Amino acid sequence: MIGRLNHVAIAVRDLSAASALYRDTLGAKVSAPQPEPAHGVTVVFIELPNTKIELLEPLGAGSPIAGFLDKNPAGGIHHICYEVDDILAARDRLKATGARVLGDGQPKIGAHGKPVLFLHPKDFNGALVELEQA
Ligand code: CO
Repeated sequence: MIGRLNHVAIAVRDLSAASALYRDTLGAKVSAPQPEPAHGVTVVFIELPNTKIELLEPLGAGSPIAGFLDKNPAGGIHHICYEVDDILAARDRLKATGARVLGDGQPKIGAHGKPVLFLHPKDFNGALVELEQA
């Protein structure tokens, strides 16, 4: 059911420092910061030949990654995103197996303008999983 790895998201406290690390130390192609107020994060996209890395910095009060950064002060891998051909079919199949879909279960438009859902990390080996409509 799952397809390509769309991205790995890393939560960071200092987006400009993390961007410089990827650009200057690792030699990656790094985008300009993109505020996503609806998601409570500012995102930097890093294009790799086979996937993307997204650096996430908290934006505004009540950012969904604030708690994660409290527990992981140095930052850390926050979620992984797999592509699916049909996000509603994928959701229904997962729910039928007992997997928990976060929020109200309805896909939201993610940072790439496509519908996304998140799955409970306790159901996936401790990893927060995002599904994105391919
Ligand atoms: Co993501």
